[in-house]
Amino acid sequence: MSKRFTRRGFMLGAGAASAAILTSRRGFSLEPAGVGIDASKEIGLIRPELHGQFAEHLGTCIYGGLWVGRNSPVPNIDGYRRQAVEYLKGLVPVLRWPGGCFADDYHWRDGVGPVARRPKTVNISWGNNIEDNAFGTHEFIGLCRLIGAEPYFSANVGSGTPEEMRDWMEYCNYPKGSSLSDMRTANGSAEPFNVKYWGVGNENWGCGGQMSGDEYATQYRRFANYARAFGETRPFLVACGPNGNNQEWTRKFWGNMAGARRSAPQGFAMHFYSNGLNVSTKFTPAEMEKQFSSFVEIEQAIVEQRALLDTYDTQKQVGLLFDEWGVWDRMVPEEQTRYGRLFQQITMRSAVAAALGLNVIHRQAGKLLMTNIAQIVNVLHSLLLTDGPQCVRTTTYYVYEMTKAHLSQTAIAATVEKPEPVGLSVSASRKGGELTLTLVNPKPDAGLTVNCSLAGATARSATARILHDADLNAANTFATPDRILPRDHKITVDGARLVADLPPLSVVTAVVRLG
Ligand code: AHR
Repeated sequence: MSKRFTRRGFMLGAGAASAAILTSRRGFSLEPAGVGIDASKEIGLIRPELHGQFAEHLGTCIYGGLWVGRNSPVPNIDGYRRQAVEYLKGLVPVLRWPGGCFADDYHWRDGVGPVARRPKTVNISWGNNIEDNAFGTHEFIGLCRLIGAEPYFSANVGSGTPEEMRDWMEYCNYPKGSSLSDMRTANGSAEPFNVKYWGVGNENWGCGGQMSGDEYATQYRRFANYARAFGETRPFLVACGPNGNNQEWTRKFWGNMAGARRSAPQGFAMHFYSNGLNVSTKFTPAEMEKQFSSFVEIEQAIVEQRALLDTYDTQKQVGLLFDEWGVWDRMVPEEQTRYGRLFQQITMRSAVAAALGLNVIHRQAGKLLMTNIAQIVNVLHSLLLTDGPQCVRTTTYYVYEMTKAHLSQTAIAATVEKPEPVGLSVSASRKGGELTLTLVNPKPDAGLTVNCSLAGATARSATARILHDADLNAANTFATPDRILPRDHKITVDGARLVADLPPLSVVTAVVRLG
């Protein structure tokens, strides 16, 4: 038995030495696990857009969350919640807006011009509440600029028209001289917004119009036909992809796009939520395992959808997006009443789910162009939760913060020696003399001593951080906002070997210097 197993904090489990299973003083077993990393096997660039976010006019994501208004007692920067801006700055490469289902009944003209004159409309997607349109195109672009995010608009196909979408593009991107660009100037921005990413509808198989794939392709072509580079920025059009791994949608859409090369989208966006069988703070280990198993299906869906897309997109000109994902647990009615529709608490389980998802995304970096977890504040798998002046960084926030080091690095092969459906998960990436590694232990009752063998590079030193709580339902609540924080973690490095202990339910990210 190697010495490292007997250091302070861990002891040999009674009679378990031969099976190399250890027991920690905290009472969980510590099992050996092997990982192989090959720095010479490159998978693809981890584009910053792979850590994208999504903001929707839903519950308190926008109003009361990101946007409190200029006259709010909540500290703000021109109406944006100051604390949220500070927390999000530099963490959000791309932000999708305004929906979601909301997008396919959103009329952009309602959200520009003097606020007092903007119409009061009804948000038919999320509870028929009054939408006063105080947060519109200019406010969204202002937010993106404050936090350093690239804007990604979802245009209205469901109840909108091709004219409305092309006018929105002209309004945003035409430099000056047309009535619409002059209107933008009059509304406060002489500079064009240069919006590049444009979704042509959202979930048009569902809330975005209840269409079949071929019906949507017909609509898509009409809308795309009038999209233009109104100025310097050529629009990158994203077509609605399947719900999960629905291959019939993909076949029907691309079948009806045959011969329509001019209107072919640059992106194709799938959605895949990981549903929960309980409310977020009452999960049992079995319910958690079921939810975690969805990430196996998600990885399979990405691989299969990309392969199917390749049969139509033989020149590989269409990027696959995964622009809605995350855990969707059962809702607590009182919480929804107080904090808005689809509000759910974010727990240690949610953090592990986010890290399992990001590991899939890193491992499949060569097949993906963008991903957007839903939603950034107060809805589903959020980074931040707010209550009046309070703004809490969730465990999801910390997972994104810890794994940010992967961005702009090249994903490299990293495999678990004895993979299990819900077992150790790994992703690795490299740039120059730095390697980033994320290890996730999704098991609630077993710790892991992870032994990584490194080929194609030599490890000189490493630093690591861990996010961990033994209680799967523990959360950074409004009462305990700092319960789960990343901490420094020990990792041993020896040339071709890295060793780290992972307690149950933990996420570890290591930055390794190569020599
Ligand atoms: O994220 C909530 C909703 O889920 C989105 O509005 C919609 O696109 C999806 O069905």
